[in-house]
Amino acid sequence: MGISVAIDGPAAAGKSTIAKKVAEIKGYTYIDTGAMYRAYTWHCLDRGLDCTNEEQCVAEIPHVNIELKPGGVVLCNGKDITREIRMPIINKNVTPVCQMKPVRLFLVDQQRKMAEKDNVIMDGRDIGTYVLPNAEVKIFQVASPECRAQRRYKENIEKGIPCTYEEILEDVNRRDKADSERAFAPLKPAEDSIHLDTSDMTIEEVVNKVIEIIDSKVK
Ligand code: CDP
Repeated sequence: MGISVAIDGPAAAGKSTIAKKVAEIKGYTYIDTGAMYRAYTWHCLDRGLDCTNEEQCVAEIPHVNIELKPGGVVLCNGKDITREIRMPIINKNVTPVCQMKPVRLFLVDQQRKMAEKDNVIMDGRDIGTYVLPNAEVKIFQVASPECRAQRRYKENIEKGIPCTYEEILEDVNRRDKADSERAFAPLKPAEDSIHLDTSDMTIEEVVNKVIEIIDSKVK
């Protein structure tokens, strides 16, 4: 079993930006669990399924092979869908899909296997509470909704993903509410997590803080 660092928090809190950089500096493997739920949702849409229909979506489990490759590349059944999974249509449809318990169990099983092999930094909603309850380091990363929407808006514009600030703010608030209220493995801070509000921090400051926390916990 390797060392595990869990970073949870609401939508667009900058978890993946931080986790990626910390992973690079510490030589850990970064695992973006949100990308896995997004990829599963992409697959269901690609098959023409109704993402609110649990029976249909769950029946796809044996036909979905998601791979996270270095550089943030995401493959679904061998197809590169790195860009597609960031589109607004995925944001909309991922919410019901990630509430389906069999889908979560299927993906969590893979996430736990990845953490067995390597030192990992894994980000998501339920990592410290459910996926890796024994993680050596647990961080709950937050920022104000306006701040998160502003950051995601800028990121999307840079990536050429069409959107408005208002749409993003609404989407972020809607997903947070659904993630916090779902019955199975909801978004909530683990009791032993460290709360990190990044609203007024630069990326570099957050990265340094997270590394400081890791170094204080992992000798
Ligand atoms: O990047 P962003 O914060 O917008 O979202 P993400 O981390 O890519 O996750 C996409 C969606 O997957 C979230 O809105 C959650 O509903 C869901 N998710 C989840 O349920 N559990 C996780 N461990 C990670 C993501």
